[in-house]
Amino acid sequence: MKILGIETSCDETAAAVLEGKNGRIQILSNVVASSASLQAKYGGIIPEQAAREQIKSIIPVIEEALTLVFPNHKPYTTNHIPPIDAIAVTYGPGLIGSLLVGVETAKVLAQIWQKPLIPVNHLIGHFYANWISPPTSYPQPPTFPCLGLLVSGGHTDLVLFHSHGKYTYLGGTRDDAAGECFDKCARLLNLPYPGGPQISKLAQKGDPKRFQLPIPMKGNKSFDFSYSGLKTAVANLIKEKGGLSEQDKADLASTLEETIVKSLIEKVILATQRYKVEQIMVAGGVAANQKLVRDLKLKVQSLKLKVKLHVPPPHLCTDNAAMIASAAFFQKPINDPFSLQADPNLSLMI
Ligand code: KG4
Ligand code: ZN
Repeated sequence: MKILGIETSCDETAAAVLEGKNGRIQILSNVVASSASLQAKYGGIIPEQAAREQIKSIIPVIEEALTLVFPNHKPYTTNHIPPIDAIAVTYGPGLIGSLLVGVETAKVLAQIWQKPLIPVNHLIGHFYANWISPPTSYPQPPTFPCLGLLVSGGHTDLVLFHSHGKYTYLGGTRDDAAGECFDKCARLLNLPYPGGPQISKLAQKGDPKRFQLPIPMKGNKSFDFSYSGLKTAVANLIKEKGGLSEQDKADLASTLEETIVKSLIEKVILATQRYKVEQIMVAGGVAANQKLVRDLKLKVQSLKLKVKLHVPPPHLCTDNAAMIASAAFFQKPINDPFSLQADPNLSLMI
């Protein structure tokens, strides 16, 4: 079974073909075109511009993903039907202009190629990056029950998965997401967008103990997160100092990364112990942060928890279409593809 995945929820235009065979889900092609460098010029995403870039890229990206797998595929010919079994598409949440490009394209392709259409929630899609098998090794995908931490630019959520499609929402951010905090603080430090990888790189040269920042929701026993206070604390610290040397910036980046990572780990451990889970998966762009992965592993070891930790490789943490196709292997197609509507506010709460 081969599924074509399409993802256009934000500033990445992505298409991928995945194959499910002998219980493994593998990537046959995975193409991502990003307008992030264009958005970086303006310090963040301009939704109108992101949507225009989506329109430019969507067909070439899909055609590239298909021709990489099917060399006989004739691009740009509607009467040449690729040998895929279904089309999966992100229908929300995200920027409405960007989402519409992917959803409407997928609907038309499903119609003219007569393929089933599988709508995927982008947030659920992030988790399913953990079900993709690497090309040469055979790690076991997560088993249930499994605790899921989603950390991306727009979301910080804790979810307890009971089985495919069945989960309990435990909590989420009350204001800014963890990735948003990285991005906004990077801007305060004059670092380019997206800020997470930039902060992380700079942090390696810094001293995480030099500045004091409050750990968000420390000691709070709920599964909610909050990062806007941390961003304000960083803004105040920069104002108080009047100007930052290169070393100040590195020390602040290091403290910020450590603070965000500590707050995430505290909640993950709290949920692991409360729900007695033995499987944890992390997903979303911030899961590409190596300090988060390293420190979470260390914490699990130091507490002697009997837990298996799943984290996708960094290129499958940030937005991509492989994760969308992967999720679709566990879902059913929609009866009437033309009834599908993009939903910018789609959430994990059901
Ligand atoms: O999942 P994603 O690609 O897009 C959304 O669905 O939001 O996540 C993007 C977020 C951005 O906030 C970016 O700064 C953050 O992920 N990010 C990182 C790292 N790589 C990406 N944050 C911290 N460390 C990283 N290495
Ligand atoms: Zn995402």
